[in-house]
Amino acid sequence: MGKHCFLYFFMLFLVSEGLTKGVAGLACNWGLQSTHPLQANIVVKLMKDNGFNKVKLFEADPEALKALGKSGIQVMVGIPNDLLAPLASNVQAAVDWVQQNVSKYISQNGADIRYVAVGNEPFLKTYKDMFLHTTLPALQNIQAALIKAGLGQKVKVTVPLNADVYQSDSGLPSAGNFRADIHDLMISIIKFLRDNGGPLTINIYPFLSLYADPNFPIDFAFFNSTAAPVVDGSITYTNVYDANFDTLISALEKNGFGSMPVIIGEVGWPTDGNSNANIEYARRFNQGLLDRILAGKGTPKRRTPPDVYLFSLIDEDNKSTLPGNFERHWGIFNFDGSIKYQLKIGGGKGLVPAKGVKYLARQWCVMSPQASPSDPSVQESMTYACTYADCTSLGFGSSCGNLDPKKNASYTFNMYYQTMDQRKGTCSFNNRSVITTIDPSQGSCRYEIMIDLGKHERPRNSSAGRRPNSLIAALIIAFMLIICGGL
Ligand SMILES: *[C@@H]1O[C@H](CO)[C@@H](O)[C@H](O)[C@H]1NC(C)=O
Ligand SMILES: *[C@@H]1O[C@H](CO)[C@@H](O)[C@H](O)[C@H]1NC(C)=O
Ligand SMILES: *[C@@H]1O[C@H](CO)[C@@H](O)[C@H](O)[C@H]1NC(C)=O
Ligand SMILES: *[C@@H]1O[C@H](CO)[C@@H](O)[C@H](O)[C@H]1NC(C)=O
Ligand SMILES: *[C@@H]1O[C@H](CO)[C@@H](O)[C@H](O)[C@H]1NC(C)=O
Ligand SMILES: *[C@@H]1O[C@H](CO)[C@@H](O)[C@H](O)[C@H]1NC(C)=O
Repeated sequence: MGKHCFLYFFMLFLVSEGLTKGVAGLACNWGLQSTHPLQANIVVKLMKDNGFNKVKLFEADPEALKALGKSGIQVMVGIPNDLLAPLASNVQAAVDWVQQNVSKYISQNGADIRYVAVGNEPFLKTYKDMFLHTTLPALQNIQAALIKAGLGQKVKVTVPLNADVYQSDSGLPSAGNFRADIHDLMISIIKFLRDNGGPLTINIYPFLSLYADPNFPIDFAFFNSTAAPVVDGSITYTNVYDANFDTLISALEKNGFGSMPVIIGEVGWPTDGNSNANIEYARRFNQGLLDRILAGKGTPKRRTPPDVYLFSLIDEDNKSTLPGNFERHWGIFNFDGSIKYQLKIGGGKGLVPAKGVKYLARQWCVMSPQASPSDPSVQESMTYACTYADCTSLGFGSSCGNLDPKKNASYTFNMYYQTMDQRKGTCSFNNRSVITTIDPSQGSCRYEIMIDLGKHERPRNSSAGRRPNSLIAALIIAFMLIICGGL
């Protein structure tokens, strides 16, 4: 009986492992610029449950790297642009960085770090020339430091670049070449990467093509488009992703790097903060992308597909809105790991949400019924609330863009209250607000309840609430012991 029992549990284990492995390996970005980040171990479980076996981090976050240890997920760890100058000026700085942010997590936590991403889109035109002189030296120093740490074989360097490092004067992919102002620098970087076995990493954003150009044929942004194709010699392009990627491949070929390995470091579609950022378009784009990844489909000029890191896993409500209000809404999941929209991720499976998330109490802060949104004091409070909380869902064409003025005011009050962890005094707004236990959400507009970070006052002794769980766990263990004990 005991033996059967073990066999049974072993088989259960195999089945659940098999299900996870049945899904093709997907890759994603995990950004941490949230006021209420999900616990790292919950995020790692979320990735595994949804078939992600590769992740890209924008910084060497200790919690994330520890949680990723022994998870079976391969890691690309990023170096923020503000570290490029110090790392470029000094080999020892690079040695320290690798020691503290790479070697340590590999040896102490079993993190499977495969790449170091040096900088993040450092040659973006909007950065002017700020990182032009530090990116390559920093890359060289990090490579030297990896070799010194004995990681030269296991960990490869790369530089995630925006797709604006290449262009095509004729608009056709075959005319692709690197931007004139950074052409020689790009060649030096690509040569260095090739000589050290590192890939070129490019971020491609069909959404931004659409955002930047109101005349962009919207259908061409998607994969199953019916838009007029772009004919380039013998090749017909039916979507901007293929055309953009092959512009890069042409640029590489033109400069003698036709077989350079390429990774797509970021690609995705936001769901809010702009009229083209919505669930319908995001699902259409991301499903089309996933279908290609799962089918192993490449582009006309490169039939084997690259690794593609989806941008992004979860929303980040503390990202800069400089690029646009959509910037906080790139997640395929909401900030709390709940599902925004379904996606088929292969093996007949759909997305599953994060498990074990602890929320603040189910209560919302709304404008009091007696108050008026035209009251200057309410107006002032709304501006204040939106200075500290995320109001990017309120804009025209966004998920809460159609609220009446009262609900609009309530939305800002609630966002502030939740962002402040429902702390005492954060739902006061000059007496123009009240707390309610009735969810004010309507239609596409969600009035959030934030994750409990343990920052609010303790209403009563919380240890009492935990007892039933451990009691149930003890009962389950006792039950298993009885069954497996050969009785
Ligand atoms: C949000 O971002 C700002 C600016 O980058 C930073 O100063 C602040 O600490 C962040 N807040 C949270 C809660 O992470
Ligand atoms: C990485 O290493 C450096 C030491 O060079 C350290 O100062 C830094 O805090 C570490 N962490 C990150 C996220 O860069
Ligand atoms: C494209 O794909 C989306 C999502 O898979 C689907 O809803 C839509 O009908 C498709 N459009 C065309 C033109 O096939
Ligand atoms: C809702 O509130 C936001 C933030 O104060 C404001 O920008 C927006 O114009 C308001 N919309 C309506 C319809 O009142
Ligand atoms: C707030 O409202 C309560 C109840 O309506 C009232 O008693 C109190 O005086 C008000 N306080 C202020 C500062 O307006
Ligand atoms: C809360 O629970 C802890 C642990 O059970 C106990 O030590 C403590 O005295 C309790 N505090 C109150 C205020 O009941």
